[in-house]
Amino acid sequence: MTEQSDIRIALMPGDGIGVEVMDAAEMVLEVLRETYSLPLIWDRLDWPSTAWHKEYGEMMPANALRRVCVYDALLMGALGDPGPVSDPNRYKLSDSISLEPLLTFRKGLDLWACERPARLLPGAPRYLADPRAADVDMLVIRENSEGEYVNQGGRLNKGTPYEVATQLEVFTRRGTERLIRHAFLRAEQRMAQRDAARQFYCEEKGHAPAQVCLITKRNAQPTWGELYTEVFAEVASEFPHIGVAHQLVDAACMKFVQNPWEFDVVVASNLHGDILTDLAAVLSGGLGLAPSCNINPDSRELPALFEPTHGSAPDIAGQGKANPAAMLLTTSMMLEWLGFNEPAEVLRNAVARDLHAAGGQQRSCQAITAGVIERLNS
Ligand code: IPM
Ligand code: MN
Repeated sequence: MTEQSDIRIALMPGDGIGVEVMDAAEMVLEVLRETYSLPLIWDRLDWPSTAWHKEYGEMMPANALRRVCVYDALLMGALGDPGPVSDPNRYKLSDSISLEPLLTFRKGLDLWACERPARLLPGAPRYLADPRAADVDMLVIRENSEGEYVNQGGRLNKGTPYEVATQLEVFTRRGTERLIRHAFLRAEQRMAQRDAARQFYCEEKGHAPAQVCLITKRNAQPTWGELYTEVFAEVASEFPHIGVAHQLVDAACMKFVQNPWEFDVVVASNLHGDILTDLAAVLSGGLGLAPSCNINPDSRELPALFEPTHGSAPDIAGQGKANPAAMLLTTSMMLEWLGFNEPAEVLRNAVARDLHAAGGQQRSCQAITAGVIERLNS
């Protein structure tokens, strides 16, 4: 029976490996609910998904956006082609159809900030040879409601030699300011939570204890680049104790590889943030370890959406090869957002300890899930 005080979650496994990593998340949530008497109830929805599309000709019901509003949070596995690739009944849809629900939720629920932390946990694959890469600990905050993703434009004279395609980008002062202010607030919060070792490291290196780095491409795209730069300077003046930096997105890609340990909070437009967070995921051990959330930091009226950075990986789907860690770290972010700080931390630590204990060994989705569950209570 639903109690007034219950927190309601929608589990949306989606497609491909989304299903198996959601199984892991559900098992973990059951253990945490029991251990901490969490007032959580959830429904496992079979939409959005390509299976739903196969049945009804759309990825989710027409009133999906309204229906999800009864929940406090949405936890999603992955969207995209359902796997495995070898399945003769695989129902392949174009990306613009199968991934659309993601963008519909982000925009329709006004989830204007996407947070993607990238921290290299001990035991995670380290792709960079420099030992300082072990210190990677950044938070990329991506604009999630406008910019390059507004999908405005069109194709003139389609299919003819005179075809013209236009793709409009929209950047508002309001959207820019709230994003940048959120980045500074997060930097402040991270500074307060940072352990003594990290503080010491920053002092030794002469780094500001916290920093926000703005990303633009203002040398080639000056209109929004200048808007971002001006707003960044205005907001930064309210946070004199936080260091600032500005990188053009191409140089930022280079520095993410050359000296990623120097980044703290990174704030970027929708598209730049999308690209940089795949790179940041590799810095933290790969997409199998990269969590993500879509939130509205100003309001909890509508549900926030939690989904790992990875996609549905049809090449490995259904084989038990998917790493559920990204999904479990995403689940931890959701618990924290819902105010369940202790179980969120316990889950994060269980994932980290399990990873460390495995010492780089290849394990199945089930083995990793069992390892994490074992560490939730010990
Ligand atoms: C992501 C994805 C999406 C994006 C796609 C699936 C539309 O790459 O969440 O990073 O570009 O935002
Ligand atoms: Mn992406």
